[in-house]
Amino acid sequence: MKIIITENYDKMSKIANKIIEQIISKKPKSTIGFATGTTPLRLYDLMAKSSVDYSKITTFNLDEYIGLSKENEQSYFYFMKSNLFDKIGIKTEQINFANGDIKDYKKECERYSNLLNNHQRDVQILGIGSNGHIAFNEPKTPFNSITHIVKLTKNTIKDNSRLFDNKNDVPKYAITMGLKEIMQSKKIILLANGENKAKAVFDMSYGPISIKVPASILQLHPDCTVIIDKNAGSLIKKA
Ligand code: PGA
Repeated sequence: MKIIITENYDKMSKIANKIIEQIISKKPKSTIGFATGTTPLRLYDLMAKSSVDYSKITTFNLDEYIGLSKENEQSYFYFMKSNLFDKIGIKTEQINFANGDIKDYKKECERYSNLLNNHQRDVQILGIGSNGHIAFNEPKTPFNSITHIVKLTKNTIKDNSRLFDNKNDVPKYAITMGLKEIMQSKKIILLANGENKAKAVFDMSYGPISIKVPASILQLHPDCTVIIDKNAGSLIKKA
């Protein structure tokens, strides 16, 4: 695991953007795993303004809320379309997403998992939850998990409620890529900023590899780069 501590959020995003530009310049038809959340927003903004042509990539996203349609402004599909995909010329056929607005969840998990097995990601972008989750793999998720349905923890619902008008509007369930599938990506870039991520980032990087901190599995990935701002890196610096 390579750890880069940057001065601020903007620098963190710029370094990630450079790495992604290099990957796409070498392989314009790359398969990229994207994450939602506030952390990658500046990176997506930089990608949208980049001179690199992203129009040939294939995309996979980590997760989606259960019960929200693609048209719902709170859905992760809508988030990716409006914050990135529409801006870089990605057509619907290139986008792969777990569908949270479906009756047969088991079948949907199988469909998405099969797709992931057949399309190795060249790079997976990740954020991290303050409880150490990656995607919606909450603490105690088995390391060999594949795409599955999760009941969100109180902690995650609280963290995510800032993006909803009302805490009660936050969906209680989500469909998420599993930890085993996240680890299948050739390269992983994890971003984190802010003091509230410092403990999760420290435990992920230097704590025991344990299902109590799902992101700690990344210590075993052969090509994982963690790019964080100095607030998220404050406990690492202290140590
Ligand atoms: P955030 O979410 O980027 O909004 O902090 C990260 C996550 O929960 O994985």
